[in-house]
Amino acid sequence: MAWNGVVGRQVMNLLLQESTAITAVTRGPGSAALPDDVQAVSGDLFRPQWIEAALEGVEALQISPRATGPGLGELLRLAVRQGVQRVVLLSATTVEHPAGEARFAAQFQHAEDLVSSSGLDWTVLRLADFAANALAWAPQIRSGDVVRGAYGRAATSPIHETDIAAVAARALRGGVPPGSIHTLTAPQSLDQVEKVHLIGAALGRALSFRNSRRSTYARACSRKGCPRRSPTACSAPWPTTPTAPDPPPALWKNCWADPRAPSPTGHATTHPPSAADAPPIPTTPHSPHTKTGSPPMNLALWIAAGLLTAVALAGGISKTFIPKARLAAQHGGEWTQDASTGFIKTLGVLELLAAIGLTLPAVLDIAPVMVPVTAACWIALMVGAMITHGRLGQSRLVLLNTVYLALAIFIAWGRFGPWSFSS
Ligand SMILES: NC(=O)c1ccc[n+]([C@@H]2O[C@H](COP(=O)([O-])OP(=O)(O)OC[C@H]3O[C@@H](n4cnc5c(N)ncnc54)[C@H](OP(=O)(O)O)[C@@H]3O)[C@@H](O)[C@H]2O)c1
Repeated sequence: MAWNGVVGRQVMNLLLQESTAITAVTRGPGSAALPDDVQAVSGDLFRPQWIEAALEGVEALQISPRATGPGLGELLRLAVRQGVQRVVLLSATTVEHPAGEARFAAQFQHAEDLVSSSGLDWTVLRLADFAANALAWAPQIRSGDVVRGAYGRAATSPIHETDIAAVAARALRGGVPPGSIHTLTAPQSLDQVEKVHLIGAALGRALSFRNSRRSTYARACSRKGCPRRSPTACSAPWPTTPTAPDPPPALWKNCWADPRAPSPTGHATTHPPSAADAPPIPTTPHSPHTKTGSPPMNLALWIAAGLLTAVALAGGISKTFIPKARLAAQHGGEWTQDASTGFIKTLGVLELLAAIGLTLPAVLDIAPVMVPVTAACWIALMVGAMITHGRLGQSRLVLLNTVYLALAIFIAWGRFGPWSFSS
């Protein structure tokens, strides 16, 4: 196993409690930081032929696809040749609940395919995002009460590493039926705003999450090595993972933001459960029970913007390109008789601009704040239209304007507020 990973360390702790012999791989110089009874092997798992000798006498392998990279197929062949019996793969929920960059899901899927066709007894653990990922916020939390990030309402069911380790350790010992796939998530779906509040509660501080602009976040992502050509994919929301329908309570004893867990300030310590304590592993697929608040509201806002765009486009084209006399002859166009051609065409151009502003900035992720700004302008336009049609006694048109006004208020509220594009 790659012992220096978040999960690897926890699994090693559990197996050491049971005096299980461990061989740990590291690219570093080796055993300095390891307990005496762990055999350290220095090597690069991308080139597993260099560590073949270390596989002799090994009963079970724990595989991290990130650590093995393109060397996984070769590592598995060598493992079979050296008489290894079992392999436990740390995969990800993105295989079954695609989100984020497709290449990550594809890499995990490829690793699962290699493992399941290796000839070894295999167990695949599809993991939700780790509780320890929140440690990325530690520097911000040390220096203030505000955590900045993007996609504050993107939700996952983060799982504590010691829970993963308890299941992995059991699987390594052969306590899991071979040829099985297990999705491991915590029972609670949490968005980033909620996670920060929970950390604050655990620390006794009032922490809050603040959305950065998406473009700022994408730039930060690309500085960390994401491909420049796909900054939008790079900054896509974290995967929303399902929660377990009937969580076996013992499995989730290391709750997210548990004060016992490693704290973002780095002071508290964790108490890993014994592998023998590990509860029965859920073998049935979890029902996809995702956080319901975010996507429907976001979708409703997109639909509202789409409808208003269509209305603005139709109104803009007719006012800009249809002659005044023809407009005046149409039902509802009577008001144009008393208006100058210049005024009508100006209104038409404004409506065309509104059609652009209501959707394109968000679609292209260029100044998306223009969406609610346009909606606010549309509100003013509709108030004017309602007054004009009201004076002419056109109550049906006033009603129609009221509907457009309501849509615009909805968009302005949602996109300036809780469903802002910088979330
Ligand atoms: N974080 C999440 O939310 C999440 C969610 C689902 C799945 N996963 C997956 O779960 C797995 C376990 O993650 P983890 O965070 O515990 O980290 P990990 O990838 O298992 O461990 C990281 C350690 O692996 C070692 N390593 C990396 N490349 C290596 C190489 N070429 N040869 C030898 N050793 C190498 C390094 O240790 P040395 O520096 O000592 O060499 C590194 O510190 C990963 O594959 C990850 O992609 C993560």
